[in-house]
Amino acid sequence: MKTRITELFGIQHPIIQGGMHYVGFAELAAAVSNAGGLGIITALTQKTPENLAKEIARCREMTDKPFGVNLTFLPALQPPDYPGYIRAIVEGGVKIVETAGRNPEPYLPPLHAAGIKVIHKCTSVRHSLKAEKIGCDAVSVDGFECGGHPGEDDIPNMILLPRAAEELKIPFVASGGMADGRSLVAGLALGADGINMGTRFIATREAPVHENVKNAIVAASELDTRLVMRPLRNTERVMYNDAVKRLLEKETRLGQEIKFEDIIEEVAGVYPKIMMEGKTETGVWSCGMVAGLIHDIPTCRELIDRIMAEAEAIIKERLTKFLG
Ligand SMILES: Cc1cc2nc3c(=O)[nH]c(=O)nc-3n(C[C@H](O)[C@H](O)[C@H](O)COP(=O)(O)O)c2cc1C
Repeated sequence: MKTRITELFGIQHPIIQGGMHYVGFAELAAAVSNAGGLGIITALTQKTPENLAKEIARCREMTDKPFGVNLTFLPALQPPDYPGYIRAIVEGGVKIVETAGRNPEPYLPPLHAAGIKVIHKCTSVRHSLKAEKIGCDAVSVDGFECGGHPGEDDIPNMILLPRAAEELKIPFVASGGMADGRSLVAGLALGADGINMGTRFIATREAPVHENVKNAIVAASELDTRLVMRPLRNTERVMYNDAVKRLLEKETRLGQEIKFEDIIEEVAGVYPKIMMEGKTETGVWSCGMVAGLIHDIPTCRELIDRIMAEAEAIIKERLTKFLG
């Protein structure tokens, strides 16, 4: 399948694995890229730019296919060493960067000067247009369904994707709620040039996270996520568990008075315990509604091959049949 995204990134299939904190290590990125998609290492999971450089080198040992690095720009008083991370990316010869969070404009010149293509993740048409205007090469349009941060507009992909298609000139991928061949065909029908998946890629054999996390996703239904941190305007879609229950009780009790300090126990520094040690009830962790469509733990190659075969069958058989 050839789309503007496969052409832009030099990949075989229009399927991207979005950056994921404590999931996006070299093992997963390499497995996705080896299967013909675009794997992405998550920069901020590496504590220092030196560690990111090592992770990039490790990934290169595992694949000769293109892979990318995710740079998430967080609102922080003490920002991470972004120039250092960018140096590691450039010197590591990575040619694709997925940015997310705040406006990536200040960081685009060094990336573009190194011949790097930038895909920015956006949760609204307004931010997508801004990304296009400042020179991003593509956008990942992340609907309300998505695991992680869906923004504050609450527009699901059935509306957000065709709206993005109406306005954007640069290519974009459909992100949030994508799991299978049906998602890919639907995304293409709504105007996207491919799909970006997070939650689906956690439940794969190569994702280097604890089995408890994968099993929790397989066991969950589409009803099992919640939105947290709404009053802080830092909304996150997460897997429902005891920590989320506690956090939501605090939100109800404290209302608009709630501060980040009130929920530190549930959100700060919990990812290593959850993803590495499998203590899934320790804190809140991102997960999409798409958990309801995830019923197995295939290899990345099995997953991607299955998505492509299913998409082809839907286009050639199911859809063509309707034309009589
Ligand atoms: C556990 C987890 C961690 C994530 N961490 C990040 C992150 O650090 N940076 C980022 O840009 N997106 C992050 N995301 C969002 C994904 O890259 C992707 O946009 C999202 O999962 C798409 O929705 P889906 O889960 O329905 O496929 C995370 C998602 C999950 C599930």
